[in-house]
Amino acid sequence: MTTAPSTFRVPLPETLINLLGRRGIDLPAAELDGGGLLRKDVSAAYDRLRAESPEAQIVVRRCRDLLNDPDGDGFAVLEVGPLLDRYGLDDGQKAATILLSWFGVPLRAFDKWPLWKPLGTNLTIDPMRATGSGYNPLHIDVVNATEPPDYSALLCVRPDPRGEGRSIVSQLRRAVDRLSDGERAFLAEPVFRDGAFYDLTGVGKEYGPFPVLDGLPASEGFVRFTAKMLPDMDLRDPHTSAVRALERELIAGQKKFLLGFGDLIVVNQHLCVHGREALGQGQDEVSEVRRRLLWQMFLRSAEADAR
Ligand SMILES: [Fe+2]
Repeated sequence: MTTAPSTFRVPLPETLINLLGRRGIDLPAAELDGGGLLRKDVSAAYDRLRAESPEAQIVVRRCRDLLNDPDGDGFAVLEVGPLLDRYGLDDGQKAATILLSWFGVPLRAFDKWPLWKPLGTNLTIDPMRATGSGYNPLHIDVVNATEPPDYSALLCVRPDPRGEGRSIVSQLRRAVDRLSDGERAFLAEPVFRDGAFYDLTGVGKEYGPFPVLDGLPASEGFVRFTAKMLPDMDLRDPHTSAVRALERELIAGQKKFLLGFGDLIVVNQHLCVHGREALGQGQDEVSEVRRRLLWQMFLRSAEADAR
């Protein structure tokens, strides 16, 4: 299997592609408020378009089912290639923003980047980082915040020309259920840390040390897992063994697939971790402008915004 199984794919009906092109262009630009969220009046304008389109409502319902079913896998792959193909990267990006705003509030999180953060391929940084070229181990984004983004979205603008770099996803809650009581008890202790926290808005405060398991149901809480913290942990500490056990279970249950041009993967961070396999060999022979490029955006759940 190279691309995501059809169970998880959401094609856009022709009528919806046309609607987003014809009408999306006249809707306001995706401007943000002071909290890094899409402005309420802009959200309302985008939502009026959804309200008049039965096809849009079907797509939104299908995405919500895939993303939010607690017994599901917690991810969906929307096929937005036709939006980029027909309307170009700028208007196509806006159309994708409108589409995502129908099941969550677009959130920038990183103060220094635009709403859609470009993730190119940089050969000079740590290969396991999001813009690196190596194995990016399983994690949730902004793990060390009190309020990590509810959803993380990655839109593939240019796949790896070497044909590798499969996306990896795995269902967190099922993996936690397979652990022993003792392992879960260690993961519930607030002793874990990961990386730096700066220039972030809309994700609460820095959380460190944090517990991996916060004891809350999946609709509210997170499994604050990142395999990126493992290299800095003490191998003799039983907390490290518990994190390793969770990583093993996540790897045992993982799904891997390539994102093609225009594939937009959305992950519910309350249910699902993500990562990436290494890109293909010989990246140094590919010019930077032809290497893999994704755009990243976050969503805050609409329910949380209403509270
Ligand atoms: Fe990530």
